[in-house]
Amino acid sequence: GRPVYLDCDTGIDDSLAIAYLMAHPDVDLVGVGTVFGNIDAHRAARNTLDLLALGGHGHVPVAIGAEKPLAGAWLGGPAHIHGGNGVGNVELPRGDREPLSDESAADLLVRLAHEHEGDLRVLAVGPLTNLARALDVETALPYLVESVVVMGGAARVPGNVTPVAEANIFNDPEAADRVLSAEWPLTLVPLDVTMEHMIEEADRESLLAADVPIPRALGQMLDVYYEFYVGTFGRRCAPLHDPLAAAITAGGATPLVAPTVQVVVDSTDGPGRGQTICDLRGERVGYPDQPTAHCRLVLSLDAPFGPHLVERLTSS
Ligand code: BDR
Ligand code: CA
Repeated sequence: GRPVYLDCDTGIDDSLAIAYLMAHPDVDLVGVGTVFGNIDAHRAARNTLDLLALGGHGHVPVAIGAEKPLAGAWLGGPAHIHGGNGVGNVELPRGDREPLSDESAADLLVRLAHEHEGDLRVLAVGPLTNLARALDVETALPYLVESVVVMGGAARVPGNVTPVAEANIFNDPEAADRVLSAEWPLTLVPLDVTMEHMIEEADRESLLAADVPIPRALGQMLDVYYEFYVGTFGRRCAPLHDPLAAAITAGGATPLVAPTVQVVVDSTDGPGRGQTICDLRGERVGYPDQPTAHCRLVLSLDAPFGPHLVERLTSS
């Protein structure tokens, strides 16, 4: 499998992403770093270790990362979306491993980038603080990794924490600015595409019916997630933010419209804070080359992702 480093704030859809990566035969999950966001970074690490153990991946090292953004404070996670423990109040059996005691998430990422030079795929599905710190620790990082996929931003759809900002970017715009302007081969997976690929109530029932530990735990978690998203979609379902970015990393989902364009993060203090400003002016002429742009912006996929995800999670 291809070596993947995951950075996450585990989280219900983060849990779906972890499950997807564990189930994908072409993925070799070589390390996970955690960050504040849906929950604090320590709890995110506990959730991650428990999921990895439950899925037979207890050997994967997990490092705790940033507990707050580069600038300012963190005000706590959205318990009404991800539950008080981050995983929909589901009590996962406690895995027997602990987080790394001597290595931060940023240090783990830098070490893995050297160990797998030219091959490491970096997948970030939380605030980008750890990646920004890793860029400070190792300035050559952009040239050591194979690729970077980030779930975050909103190009031409509304945000989900402010009218214009998506949560992962809004939670640390200074870090996002650093990560999106670094010269690595970056793919951004924004709300434009993740809000179009859903998991439905019938899928949740299939996960529960599989009677296998990971799908069952995910089915239980989704109960809380669906309650929140009823307010957005008018039915019990949820958008597949983080697992979709995981599938793009693993090659299990194929972008259709995905121009390489200039993306700038608003890190000012006004109402635009956390917005991803994407230069889509070439839309009507097939997005001609923007010589200085290096961000591939995924706007659509070639196939519905929900059925593929459920199939992958229930057949392994
Ligand atoms: C993103 O924010 C988090 O709450 C989710 O896990 C996802 O990474 C969606 O905006
Ligand atoms: Ca997340």
